[in-house]
Amino acid sequence: MSAALWSFADSEAPARRLASELGLPWHPVSVRQFPDGESLVRVEPHVCDVAVLYRSLDDPNAKLVELLLAASALRDARIRKVVLVAPYLAYMRQDMAFHPGEAVSQRVMGKMIAQHFDGLVTVDPHLHRVSTLGEVVAGIETLCLSAAPALVDALRTHVTPDTVLIGPDEESHQWVSQFAEALNLQSLVGRKRRDGDRSVAIELAGIEQVAGRPIVLVDDLISSGGTLLRCASLLAAAGASRIEVVATHCLATEDDLARLHNAGIARIRASDAVPGPVATVPLAAVIKKALTDSTLLQGW
Ligand code: R5P
Repeated sequence: MSAALWSFADSEAPARRLASELGLPWHPVSVRQFPDGESLVRVEPHVCDVAVLYRSLDDPNAKLVELLLAASALRDARIRKVVLVAPYLAYMRQDMAFHPGEAVSQRVMGKMIAQHFDGLVTVDPHLHRVSTLGEVVAGIETLCLSAAPALVDALRTHVTPDTVLIGPDEESHQWVSQFAEALNLQSLVGRKRRDGDRSVAIELAGIEQVAGRPIVLVDDLISSGGTLLRCASLLAAAGASRIEVVATHCLATEDDLARLHNAGIARIRASDAVPGPVATVPLAAVIKKALTDSTLLQGW
């Protein structure tokens, strides 16, 4: 059995880290943009049994077509098994039609991945009303990893015993409780009502306990940053001495990050699932372990 790893330029740094952890050769997927917007995708030729194709799927509308073209080019190169490593898996939040006529994007995405790949590895996908990734991406081997242990390690030497961990909403409870147990810290979990893409209302029972204490906000995903912005304003008003954030995925733009810093958030740490200025916690070791413990790198 032989394997190799390919990635697009936008994921090159974390993909190379993973290739190096796995001891696999890394190859580029190059893209040339035609004037009409179409993409010419080319995978560098390499003979092997298993191809690991690495691309995180933030900015998914721009990335998905190229990803499918790359998978097809790998199969044309007679590679029989193509495994997708997409540390951030987009379109997972729309898991039902909330209003008549809406597409259920999670279901469409799951079917498309199962059709084009033989395996999928992802990290902390936003699964709310389904409990396993296998229900979304059926019929292929899937590995659903968590960034929590790597993020806990990044915090371990840094937090003081009086730190309070805060989860903004009920969905964050699963992460906050893991962090609280591993770091032996107090935690509070809020209740969130979403009023718009960037507008949320948050209730945080027990918020008076944060006065004079450092806070770490814990969430799976920073999208527009609206949730953290609201939390930061409540926590600052309640007298928190310092506010930091730790999250698996940070999709926020530079402007959104500037707004968060201006709102008093001193530091944001995220995993490198989505490359960017705050993606300081590498996941290569976590992904390598999961891949080597599975059968995904074995040929047919
Ligand atoms: C929602 O349930 C997630 O865990 C995040 O809290 C949410 O996606 C963050 O979105 P935004 O940054 O746009 O408020």
